[in-house]
Amino acid sequence: MKTKGAILWGVGEEWSIEEIELGDPKEGEVQVQVAASGLCHSDEHLVTGGTPVAFYPVIGGHEGSGVVTKVGPGVTGLQEGDHVVTAFIPACGQCPPCSKGMQNLCDLGASLLAGTSISDGSYRIQARGQDVIPMCLLGTFSPYITVHQASVVKIEPDIPLEIAALVGCGVTTGWGSATKVADVRPGENVVVMGAGGVGMNAVQGAAAAGAKRVMVIDPVARKREWAMEMGATHVFESAEEATEKVNELTWGRMAEKTIITVGDIQGEDIQAALTLTGKGGRAVVTGMGNAANTDVKLSLFELTLLQKDLQGAIFGGLAPRAAIPELLALYQEGQLKLDELATTKYKLEDINQGYQDMRDGKNIRGMVIYSDSDR
Ligand SMILES: NC(=O)c1ccc[n+]([C@@H]2O[C@H](COP(=O)([O-])OP(=O)(O)OC[C@H]3O[C@@H](n4cnc5c(N)ncnc54)[C@H](O)[C@@H]3O)[C@@H](O)[C@H]2O)c1
Ligand SMILES: [Zn+2]
Ligand SMILES: [Zn+2]
Repeated sequence: MKTKGAILWGVGEEWSIEEIELGDPKEGEVQVQVAASGLCHSDEHLVTGGTPVAFYPVIGGHEGSGVVTKVGPGVTGLQEGDHVVTAFIPACGQCPPCSKGMQNLCDLGASLLAGTSISDGSYRIQARGQDVIPMCLLGTFSPYITVHQASVVKIEPDIPLEIAALVGCGVTTGWGSATKVADVRPGENVVVMGAGGVGMNAVQGAAAAGAKRVMVIDPVARKREWAMEMGATHVFESAEEATEKVNELTWGRMAEKTIITVGDIQGEDIQAALTLTGKGGRAVVTGMGNAANTDVKLSLFELTLLQKDLQGAIFGGLAPRAAIPELLALYQEGQLKLDELATTKYKLEDINQGYQDMRDGKNIRGMVIYSDSDR
């Protein structure tokens, strides 16, 4: 079918909204009419070239929700009309990591940046006659997607789809970074570096896990105000300011857990986080930077003798099939703020404005919302 999408033709380009040809579902695939897509910073790494993809053009978007409109052969557990959230890591449930309870490391993730379909290794999208890589095998910057069943999770139909999209990436990643990977315990001091679409949910997760203090660092004043509304107890403008204040507040013990959720992580953020983390504490690296950057300096002396733990995290260490419905259930019970995260809604045509607003720190999460006029 002919539809449209936001395509990136190379590093440093703007998103270009143009006609695309979208294939029908093949073995194990479904077509989804997309309702909403979050503007996550990870798509921005395609613009900067920080995330290497096999080739351009790429269609962006990986934080989506929608309604199943077509079901391919061999699909189990999904039918037309089902409401779904996209999972930016497919989860097959059968490979060694999935079998060991690490769905976020599913072996199907191997083709994430190659863009080759799980079903048969071909491409479902063409633009200007060329194959297009869908971001994270999804490409939710389009009102329709054709994706593998491993990449979507069925949700309850009474949850507003505009809001459900948020748990496809940012909410789950941030929440799990705090609750699972950092394993925040009641009474702990937690620092979150970077209060964006991911970091705000590390704040929510840390608060829900019973942290005594949730201390947020962000250079943008509006982010610090929002962070207080999302559960932060203290906010700081810089890591230097935080280091001094956390030292005072904790009588020199520093934080048990520090979570890095800055938009474009740099090597020096690692040492800053380790300095904020006390003896026996853990620093979690969730933010991403340039894949070619291997330059990190840190105090090996402190790492060893203060027995600090430095831990990476993808999808907050959580299993998409379990976490997405669980977090939406928490939302329904009023225990997770989602409406407050979607600070500006855009039409697909305004996506470049949406990303400019992200760079300018104007949103917690900008959202593309599709309407009938997009179909
Ligand atoms: N590991 C994963 O599974 C995963 C999943 C999703 C996103 N990400 C990555 O997480 C990062 C955050 O994504 P996002 O969508 O929340 O981005 P965002 O742009 O919405 O938020 C980033 C925030 O960091 C703040 N910031 C920038 N530099 C800072 C610094 N030095 N100290 C403190 N704060 C700083 C910004 O003001 C902004 O509020 C990105 O790198 C993204 O690619 C990782
Ligand atoms: Zn994302
Ligand atoms: Zn798997």
